[in-house]
Amino acid sequence: MCVRSRVSKGEVVSRDGEQPLWWQSRVVYQIYPRSFRDSDGNGTGDLDGVIEKLDYLSDTLGVDALWLSPFFPSPMADFGYDVSDYCDVDPLFGDLATFDRLVAEAHAREMRVIIDYVPNHTSDQHPWFIESRSSRDNPKRDWYVWRDAQPDGSLPNNWQASFGGPSWTFDEVTGQYYLHSFLPQQPDLDWRNPKVKHAMFDVVRFWLERGVDGFRIDVAHRIMKDPELRDNPPAPGAGLVRHKDQGDYDAQLHIHDMGHEDVHEVYRDMRTLLDEYSDEQPRIAIGEIHIFELEVWSNYYGGELDELHLPFNFGLLAVPWDAAAVREFVTELEGTIPDGAWPNYVVGNHDEPRIASRVGPERARIAMMLLLTLRGTPTLYQGDELGMQDVPIPPDKVQDPWGIRVGDLSLGRDPQRAPMLWDTGPNAGFTGPGVEPWLPIAPGHEGLNVASQLDDPRSMLALTRRLLAERSASPALSLGDYLPVDVDSDACMAWIRQRGDERYLVALNFTDQSQTLSLPLGNRGEMIASTHMDREGSEALASFCLRGNEGCLLKLTPA
Ligand code: GLC
Repeated sequence: MCVRSRVSKGEVVSRDGEQPLWWQSRVVYQIYPRSFRDSDGNGTGDLDGVIEKLDYLSDTLGVDALWLSPFFPSPMADFGYDVSDYCDVDPLFGDLATFDRLVAEAHAREMRVIIDYVPNHTSDQHPWFIESRSSRDNPKRDWYVWRDAQPDGSLPNNWQASFGGPSWTFDEVTGQYYLHSFLPQQPDLDWRNPKVKHAMFDVVRFWLERGVDGFRIDVAHRIMKDPELRDNPPAPGAGLVRHKDQGDYDAQLHIHDMGHEDVHEVYRDMRTLLDEYSDEQPRIAIGEIHIFELEVWSNYYGGELDELHLPFNFGLLAVPWDAAAVREFVTELEGTIPDGAWPNYVVGNHDEPRIASRVGPERARIAMMLLLTLRGTPTLYQGDELGMQDVPIPPDKVQDPWGIRVGDLSLGRDPQRAPMLWDTGPNAGFTGPGVEPWLPIAPGHEGLNVASQLDDPRSMLALTRRLLAERSASPALSLGDYLPVDVDSDACMAWIRQRGDERYLVALNFTDQSQTLSLPLGNRGEMIASTHMDREGSEALASFCLRGNEGCLLKLTPA
């Protein structure tokens, strides 16, 4: 057993060799505004609700960057991912003045604000699309992708929409099909048209000028398709890493309907634009990249690290809950990302089943320790700090169009979007008493909510706060190297985070059985946190015991 000699990439510094970039030492917290806090009692969360909870986020929890899912005007066919005006706030959530207040209040607390940017498609109610569909010779016609049926009357090609059915919908008025990678109400923009790029870059400028610190770019890899719109070939069957079963959609290899190499030029140009606004501090581009082949995924950093700062890394969503598999994944990731690029990890978001439902509540604590102690920026989804689980949705309350459209409610994403749990009052403090929230409140919320967990020193929230506090106080934990430790056990994973003289050990037991590790890492370590939240003091490392499903973070005493 020894610390492997391979050292992870050296300390990451900004490209000009100066200070680390702000997101390297921060933790991003994803807010899904509809479900966070309803300040005006209409059953749906809003931006004033976010403002109300900034002290919780900053002081109580201890996160320092927020990503807000869409709050733009939208018919809500896909709950805001169908934008009908990129430069305003939907009245459901507030208005631009509320947004400005939110940014100012967050900045006053030293928190950064990242907003969603949805470039692949608009709503079918966006004025651009309304014009585009009005006639074949409308000036906005070529802002979207319109095609005739094939000579035999069949669809323009075989592409499948992510939310079921073909990617083409026929428009009676002009007798052509339009392309939509998601719902028919979400027509795809044609980014090969310079006017589209120009208009969408103006949207970026609009929000940068309002003071946002960056963007989370929705399905960033999908904006560039094969220029000839060739058919996708069939998927080989085995071998694809999938984290969800998407039926017909999975029967194809998605090589032509997304990720054409021209996409990289767009992100290089977007990066140049962000850099123009980065005098005081850099503005960040995070991309939602659903690509599990790490070699392809890592291209989104850019050959010169000149594209996305952080292509979201969803690998932990696909890896089985198994120490060897997780270790192998992290090792591969550390070995694949370009020199100088910065990793990131995600274990949950508004599209994925809750981590506590996927692996169970005990193991969700280990997942939290994993997320907050690996090298890279963590993104923490609202409610995961409480160990929230997927909330069962009665069929008559289902909202998400995906499950409804494909007739498989298990694909629906409502369970992970159920309201945040604030206190023991009616509706768990999400909205007023007597108001029906847009999605049901979690059963058993009385013991799960923020207020009751703050009273319990062993709660999931207590663990999350402890980890966040240590991380924010320690350059080793936020910025340090990742050094895997060989523990000769398939049950456990261990690693060191190190910067200068400061060293931490993380040891996780992925099984139900207790495990004893012999760790020749100096004599002793000081327990910072066990996932059980019941251990403290100094520990001998030569024979270090982890109980079933326990993870420990220790600070190593210099030899
Ligand atoms: C992204 C969003 C998801 C949305 C889809 C279409 O995957 O995270 O919620 O439905 O894009 O915009």
